Amino acid sequence: MGLLKLPLVVLVCSVFSLLSFIALCDTSELTVKFLETPHAFSNLSSTKFVFEVLVGGSGACINSNITCKLDDGFGRINASQCENGTVLCEGLHDGNHKFEVCPNGTQGVGCSSYYWTVDTVPPTANISASTPFTNALNVSINMSFSEPCTGGGGFACSSVNACNLLVHGAGKVIPNSLKILQPNLQYSVLVGLSSTAQYGRVILVMDMNFCTDSAGNKFKETKILLSLCISIDEVSTSLLTFPKGNFN
Ligand SMILES: *[C@@H]1O[C@H](CO)[C@@H](O)[C@H](O)[C@H]1NC(C)=O
Ligand SMILES: *[C@@H]1O[C@H](CO)[C@@H](O)[C@H](O)[C@H]1NC(C)=O
Ligand SMILES: *[C@@H]1O[C@H](CO)[C@@H](O)[C@H](O)[C@H]1NC(C)=O
Ligand SMILES: *[C@@H]1O[C@H](CO)[C@@H](O)[C@H](O)[C@H]1NC(C)=O
Ligand SMILES: *[C@@H]1O[C@H](CO)[C@@H](O)[C@H](O)[C@H]1NC(C)=O
Ligand SMILES: *[C@@H]1O[C@H](CO)[C@@H](O)[C@H](O)[C@H]1NC(C)=O
Ligand SMILES: *[C@@H]1O[C@H](CO)[C@@H](O)[C@H](O)[C@H]1NC(C)=O
Ligand SMILES: *[C@@H]1O[C@H](CO)[C@@H](O)[C@H](O)[C@H]1NC(C)=O
Repeated sequence: MGLLKLPLVVLVCSVFSLLSFIALCDTSELTVKFLETPHAFSNLSSTKFVFEVLVGGSGACINSNITCKLDDGFGRINASQCENGTVLCEGLHDGNHKFEVCPNGTQGVGCSSYYWTVDTVPPTANISASTPFTNALNVSINMSFSEPCTGGGGFACSSVNACNLLVHGAGKVIPNSLKILQPNLQYSVLVGLSSTAQYGRVILVMDMNFCTDSAGNKFKETKILLSLCISIDEVSTSLLTFPKGNFN
């Protein structure tokens, strides 16, 4: 009999502790604590959530029945990953997303949500020149960004040698003519053409990697360039533009 007592005591104890654990999980308020989430604006189409379910604000409660939802059920979630508190979301399309964790206690299902935006598209810009122009020696250039590209300082043109609009050939940017037409989206600047060049070519191209969008996508060097063929004589001035053309 003496030999049987110990296992019995252990058994009673474990049943008791199991019951009290369940009771603790079920009677207290359950909260979800996110330990790992994507950035609010993310350039990743795959992301990981790590969370734990807490009882009354402290102590992990592994025993509750947890369900996870991606995009109100329209996204697929691996249920066993959800129960383990580490969920991988893959193949996320660009746009707004919502991840929900719903632990089921006796007081009902209380969900905690995390909202974020996926943006995998790098910012781009177009360059255009004013045609016709009134001043033969100054050409007005417009730059339009597809989205705000402010990470890293954004577009700047503080001097001829520190300008994100690169001018090659018979011309120079006039930095103090920089105008903001639409904050972070549209700018204009004058490019002064060489007054000595009778014939010449000016090639305008955006610098690369100088800014990022809110999701961290880098402005890439693109085929964005403008080739101006200038032909200046006493009576006529003409400007030909070849947007995105190959200047070689
Ligand atoms: C959790 O709840 C769901 C929905 O009621 C049920 O289908 C599932 O069996 C439950 N899982 C556990 C481990 O209790
Ligand atoms: C769910 O995730 C687990 C662990 O990562 C994995 O072993 C299992 O194959 C996954 N199930 C599905 C249906 O993808
Ligand atoms: C859940 O976690 C347990 C313990 O850490 C592990 O043994 C099990 O493989 C995990 N399951 C999944 C689906 O990740
Ligand atoms: C929550 O748990 C209760 C009891 O186990 C169950 O009846 C109910 O269906 C669950 N609700 C959800 C949404 O899983
Ligand atoms: C530049 O943008 C302004 C404002 O949208 C517009 O009035 C002007 O004509 C544009 N110039 C060129 C060269 O596209
Ligand atoms: C070109 O523009 C600059 C800056 O606005 C101005 O100082 C200069 O006089 C202009 N050049 C001509 C030839 O109009
Ligand atoms: C650049 O120009 C193309 C063709 O005209 C247009 O489809 C695109 O929206 C423009 N992008 C920006 C950032 O203005
Ligand atoms: C995505 O954003 C991170 C910063 O959040 C950056 O380091 C990384 O280079 C970006 N990836 C791409 C492809 O732009």
